Amino acid sequence: MNNLSILKKFPTDFIFGTATSSYQIEGNSFGGCGKSIWDEFAKKRLKGVDGQKACNHFNYFKEDIKFIKEAGFKAYRFSFSWPRILPIDHNTINTEGLDFYSRLLDEILKNDLEPFPTLYHWDLPLRFSSLGGWENQDTCKRFADFSYIISEKYSDKFQKIATINEPWCVSWLSHYLGEHAPGLTNLSSAVKTMHNILLAHGMSLQALRSNGNNEIGIVLNNEYPEPFNEDPKNIQAAKLFDNIYNRWFSDAIFKGSYPELALNILEKYLPKNYNSQLKIISHPIDWIGINYYTRSVIKYLNADDGIDYECERGSLKKTDMGWELYPKGLSYFIERIHQEYSDDIPIYVTENGMANNDQISFNEVIEDQDRVEYFQLHLKEILDCLKKGIQVKGYFAWSLLDNYEWAFGYEKRFGLIHVDFETFKRTPKESFNQFSKYL
Ligand code: FCB
Repeated sequence: MNNLSILKKFPTDFIFGTATSSYQIEGNSFGGCGKSIWDEFAKKRLKGVDGQKACNHFNYFKEDIKFIKEAGFKAYRFSFSWPRILPIDHNTINTEGLDFYSRLLDEILKNDLEPFPTLYHWDLPLRFSSLGGWENQDTCKRFADFSYIISEKYSDKFQKIATINEPWCVSWLSHYLGEHAPGLTNLSSAVKTMHNILLAHGMSLQALRSNGNNEIGIVLNNEYPEPFNEDPKNIQAAKLFDNIYNRWFSDAIFKGSYPELALNILEKYLPKNYNSQLKIISHPIDWIGINYYTRSVIKYLNADDGIDYECERGSLKKTDMGWELYPKGLSYFIERIHQEYSDDIPIYVTENGMANNDQISFNEVIEDQDRVEYFQLHLKEILDCLKKGIQVKGYFAWSLLDNYEWAFGYEKRFGLIHVDFETFKRTPKESFNQFSKYL
């Protein structure tokens, strides 16, 4: 049987937490929340399977925070919903929404947990759609205003805050691959949003700084680029994938430039003044979050638009998402930050976890041994990084609850806690018990 006794080997000041996001758990039909691009996308593309109820965290949040405490975690990563705070326009604050986050933060603090809020985890208010969404730089300004509101209202209740969750997903996955809202498959749109979402980060950072926040980060997702074989064409293809998926965002943040291989192909879609905007994007941050799940196997494929690769899954053990178990990728990216970008920035693994088809047995037990193994193997990689003297400060398991897994609806279960989406009953899984036992 796998277990999480490895948790005992971490330094006492290492922060263990768990993560969620607003649209995936709260339930947008509650508390005067406005519509987001995900409601629209779900209606058009996902047969209406949306986050209107989700885990009903809006009403169950006290119970959920209690679980986090019970597991022995020290921190909770969640996100603010922009359409919950500003449902109708840019100025009219929904007091019910404001009050919800106030109560949530108070509950987190009351349970001696550290809040790790994120300002944008993909639920863009729907009203931006007709204005071009993230393709329009006005959205970046509005996001900075929203950041300022959050900072003003709640800065006394948190220290650390992240601007954007996973800019690659917001841009490439949603505007080139078409798999997430708004579901576009247009290279020009994708590149504009790849730049604008970073600009939104930079402008938000300025807004937060102007209000005195000084522990600001961004959360980047990384996927390990594995060339299909030694063929130089595949190696080059894997480099391009790495440029677009990973380095585009980290180079911009830390170096104020875009990586050459990707830039050669994508520059023509960027705004003329992109270089001067990179100065805003690369203002120093105080910590960096990495989300890591898996690797991709990359093959050369000639394409008209210059994106000359295709991605496959390899032959390693897979999760219920079809994602391969490849823990080495996690330490690879942590070391990359340390060696290539900054050797002293505090690094947090802000998401890591797996989907499993978890079933409740007759005695209410959920034996998610594969998930326990997944955590164990990735935690081992972090320990190795710590031994090398790298500043990894914390780890957040994705996710506290089974929840709305975006385009996969409620079918993919990532939670430490099982959720019955009819009754909202929560049942802790073995992975949850393992954290409680060893934390
Ligand atoms: C990440 C997202 C998170 C969740 C996990 C499985 O890309 O940030 O919301 O969907 O994947």
